Amino acid sequence: MKYTYYGQSCFLIEADGKKFLFDPFIKSNPLAKDVDTSKIEADYILVSHGHGDHVADLVELAKQTDAQVIAVVEVAKWIKEQGVEKVTDINFGTQTMPFGKLRTVWAVHSSSNPDGSYGGNPAGFVLGLEGKQIYFAGDTALTSEMKLLAELHHLDYAILPIGGHYTMDVDDAVIAAKYINCDQIIGVHYNTFPPISINEEDAIAKFKREDKTLLLPKIGETISL
Ligand code: NI
Ligand code: MN
Repeated sequence: MKYTYYGQSCFLIEADGKKFLFDPFIKSNPLAKDVDTSKIEADYILVSHGHGDHVADLVELAKQTDAQVIAVVEVAKWIKEQGVEKVTDINFGTQTMPFGKLRTVWAVHSSSNPDGSYGGNPAGFVLGLEGKQIYFAGDTALTSEMKLLAELHHLDYAILPIGGHYTMDVDDAVIAAKYINCDQIIGVHYNTFPPISINEEDAIAKFKREDKTLLLPKIGETISL
């Protein structure tokens, strides 16, 4: 399984012969200026919520890749209104998808679409791919709801926001990693804007103190999971 980071909360997972793109926001991110979006391919695009730093390039990439887009009902409605036809609307709970079972989970945040319309509730996702369980938290504060994931899944990897201000900061993400009982954390949603700047070495050290690994691939870098 491969993980490629595109900045903010945008990344691509390649597993089971399929490509899963999450929260496309690349062209408006100066940190991701070297990413050539014209080369991005995807079978599925999963969207955690409607904020611009998660959907800015969604419509263009959905059309370019012909991917099946998966989003909460109110965001899915906005996506369809932009002329994207392959959209699966979901809500909290479990979904049976062609790639397996998807669990859509609570995220403590807000959600509105780029046109200001109601975006429903923000979400996170748990996917089972190549025998591994992967949690993407979306944008969320720390919440005791996360403890439920430790009961429901044996999480191999968790992709958590760590930049603070709008989401969990590093300290809260360490607690989240304990709540979900996951040792391999991939950090997202940091350094894109001044309020979410972090010290990467400090962040890695804080996770290490709890016997957890924080992976921070560079933008454009691909790592094996
Ligand atoms: Ni957001
Ligand atoms: Mn965000």
